[in-house]
Amino acid sequence: MGLPRFHTSVVRCASLAVDHWLVFDWFKLIPHDCYKPITNDQRRGYMLVLATFVDLYNIGYFVSTTNIKDTRLWYNFKQLWSNRTMSDDKSNMVTCTAPVNIAVIKYWGKRNEELILPINSSLSVTLHQDQLKTTTTVATNRSFEEDRIWLNGKEEDISHPRLQSCLREIRRLARKRRNDTHQSFDVAGLSQKVHICSINNFPTAAGLASSAAGFACLVYTLARVFGVEGELSAIARQGSGSACRSMYGGFVQWIQGERDDGKDSLAQQVEPESHWPELRILVLVVSADRKPIGSTSGMQTSVKTSALLKHRAEGVVPKRMGDMIEAVCQKDFTTFAELTMKDSNQFHATCLDTYPPIFYLNSVSQQIINVVHRYNRHYGETRVAYTFDAGPNAVIFTLEQHFSEFVQVVQHFFPSEINGGKFIKGLPVDDANLSEGLKQDIGLEPMPDRISYIISTKAGPGPCVVEDHSQHLLGSDGMPKKIL
Ligand code: DP6
Repeated sequence: MGLPRFHTSVVRCASLAVDHWLVFDWFKLIPHDCYKPITNDQRRGYMLVLATFVDLYNIGYFVSTTNIKDTRLWYNFKQLWSNRTMSDDKSNMVTCTAPVNIAVIKYWGKRNEELILPINSSLSVTLHQDQLKTTTTVATNRSFEEDRIWLNGKEEDISHPRLQSCLREIRRLARKRRNDTHQSFDVAGLSQKVHICSINNFPTAAGLASSAAGFACLVYTLARVFGVEGELSAIARQGSGSACRSMYGGFVQWIQGERDDGKDSLAQQVEPESHWPELRILVLVVSADRKPIGSTSGMQTSVKTSALLKHRAEGVVPKRMGDMIEAVCQKDFTTFAELTMKDSNQFHATCLDTYPPIFYLNSVSQQIINVVHRYNRHYGETRVAYTFDAGPNAVIFTLEQHFSEFVQVVQHFFPSEINGGKFIKGLPVDDANLSEGLKQDIGLEPMPDRISYIISTKAGPGPCVVEDHSQHLLGSDGMPKKIL
């Protein structure tokens, strides 16, 4: 039967596997009467070596180097193997969601391109995932031959350096954790390849920070799959700078840090989303097209050519960060709104000061800015604020009591003829009447169909795990489900 030869390998390999949890499961399945000639310790050894071979090599190698095919052990082994593969499929697939964030103190410019270290700190509001989110499923399985990623239904190149940075960092932390906890085996599937599938429920690269939600979701989900806990914003940052802020809900600052290795360049929650429930947010989608110049290359040119950007990073943002944190903590809307608008304007001024200049705002964006200032002037107080990222879409902040009236203002001056019924998405908005005086003070001609739609939302929580397994984006074969 060849058992003696096998028995020798057991003795050699058992020491490698003494603490492996699988042993105990397997031990239960081996019938006692099968190995009467050997002792209990020896029998335990068999189980240990099976676990060793299966985890470190593979079943085919194991079978070809032993003569156990004729034994009951082999029969039980096959049964165990198929059970184990099935349970792997379940336990090694995780789906999570992560939010978009909108900066009210902008990040623009890096001091280290590879580690993504910024030249100034920034602060953002996390938008609610009921309206805007990325969903990502990550699976590991020993049958996967390579790491693969599908974004919004299309397979993309996983060798992109930023994706590789996130994968490498999570696997490094998982290995560290495994070594620190003295696990001898590949419990987290560290030697296995990953399949990643991700979708957004909003237009990609339309100035709505899709890369922020995308990388935050990727890092959060990978961490769950590989059992990594703790501070993850420094890893998300290496996917896309603004992604580190999407690792938390509510009001979040990204502290620029000083160290060359970037270990102190982290996101931190300033206040949770529950802190300011009256705050309302509107995303005015001006254009769902891709932006002409991406943030990464735009900010590179700005760092090289704009003296205004240097002045902003060194002389303006440090004080503005302190004032903004104070305004958020005090729920001081006037200060929050004014700082938000000034910072957006200065960011776009640095884009114009870049050589050659970068234009992210278009004529519709400029008209939205006019409407907001004229609305505030009509009331003699700052009731509404705008901010724009690297694109023409506006994000508007206001308080609950002014919300429906301002939505009515937008609908009046930017009426939608093609999108009528579906113009407002997200949180419901009450009807409101506009006074003739307000319309006259704003004093613009209505501009039909210049805004495609409005998303009505509020501040929301950070990344979450989706417990309902039917929501996985990958099927049990590890491939994207057909509905994508
Ligand atoms: C204008 O985070 O997209 O939205 O770090 O190169 O990926 P990379 O850039 P990214 O830049 C965002 C810039 C911004 C302002 C902000 O979100 O703070």
